[in-house]
Amino acid sequence: MASTAPRAEPALKDIPAFAPDTLADPYAYYARLRAEAPVYRDPNTGIVYVSTFERIVEVNSQPRIFSNKFGETLRTGAGIVIDPEEARIMKEGVQIVDTMLTADPPEQTRYRKLAMKAFTMKRVEGMTPYIAQVCNELIDGFISKGACEFKSAFAAHVPMIVIADALGVPRSDMDTFRTWSDAFIDQLGGMASPERRRECARLIVEFQRYFVDKIEEKRARPTDDVISDLVHADLAEEGDHRKMEYSELLSILQQLLVAGNETTAHTLTAGLMYLIANPDEMAKLRADPSLYPNLVEETLRMLSPTNNMWRVVKADHQIGDVPVKQGELVLLRYGSANRDDAKFAEADRFDITRENAKEHLAFGAGVHHCLGAYLARKEMQIAFPIVIERLSNLRFARGAESYRFIPNILMRGLAELHIAFDPA
Ligand code: HEM
Repeated sequence: MASTAPRAEPALKDIPAFAPDTLADPYAYYARLRAEAPVYRDPNTGIVYVSTFERIVEVNSQPRIFSNKFGETLRTGAGIVIDPEEARIMKEGVQIVDTMLTADPPEQTRYRKLAMKAFTMKRVEGMTPYIAQVCNELIDGFISKGACEFKSAFAAHVPMIVIADALGVPRSDMDTFRTWSDAFIDQLGGMASPERRRECARLIVEFQRYFVDKIEEKRARPTDDVISDLVHADLAEEGDHRKMEYSELLSILQQLLVAGNETTAHTLTAGLMYLIANPDEMAKLRADPSLYPNLVEETLRMLSPTNNMWRVVKADHQIGDVPVKQGELVLLRYGSANRDDAKFAEADRFDITRENAKEHLAFGAGVHHCLGAYLARKEMQIAFPIVIERLSNLRFARGAESYRFIPNILMRGLAELHIAFDPA
């Protein structure tokens, strides 16, 4: 007779944390981590995972112990040996320095201040009318078809056009920017073949040459844009007043180009997917447009496009009551913290009226809190109403095949979203 006993859950150590299936749908695993080991040293990878809201905030409040200079530890930990041909190609370019995301205070603070000055609220506010125009033009391009793949038709373009305009480079170079942005992401991801890594290296050198020309252009003839501001900014370094060098400027520009594109595109795409999957929430939104800002926050919370982020331990310490050792890699599981029931009631439920949605960690916390949060929020607060108001009867075009999540350690988002609609 067949046994009816429930099947035992695998032990945490038997769950492959980075297997594509776990990454594509990590929430059951995250719930186990939060319940059983909020700070967990995975015996398979040696990495310490931090999964609850409270513990992640604790780590982010101590940047001198939990460092963002994780590049070298990550490479050696993963046994990545740089291919000599890739190294030769990279040598043809500029050797960039760590500035914001991969630097620690006090260097990080210095660079961040300059980048923040270039991304003033005034500049972002000044972009508002044309963000709406960009969104409307993109929709004009596909509305008569009654269907589209939303990410490539809309969501991916909005942040790319906005950042190009903010930097002060022509929109006609957009396709090239996308190619460069993909190259940075593949190079960081550590999953690319040696051939692809060499191609990425060539593209990155190409990116640098393009921006060195732009830097020189703006040095000679400043215009009202972020590159001009950065080129002419004073990096007051230990009393030494000087302008930034290529190695510093290119590092900042690279982060501005890469950090905001995939993340914003993923949030726009997932937000629409959550709304179609939750018709009651869509109805609430159509009835009360004042809910749009909270839709943005709830989508950021649910998705957490930067689902995980690295830290490296600088000195023996502890997280909660778990000791961690100097040199250990820590993975902050932002995606799990944002589904923590101790912080967000019924955290797996998509609820656009959730009162504390905005307290999410999708933009991180502490000294590295996202520099582009204001801009990203603005873009999405403008884009969502235009999409929802112009496309009615929104539905999935291919049933269960309409979307799928990309398995990735750091980023979370949909590869594509096939929708159908009636022009409103
Ligand atoms: C939905 C959109 C976005 C999300 C979810 C997001 C997420 C994040 C997160 C989680 C961090 C902190 C990483 C850490 O803990 O170490 C971060 C940092 C950063 N983000 Fe964003 N980001 C978004 C949009 C943008 C945009 C539009 C820009 C640029 C204009 C940008 C530029 C940066 C930079 C430069 C940093 C590093 C800041 C520092 O280390 O001081 N991000 N972002």
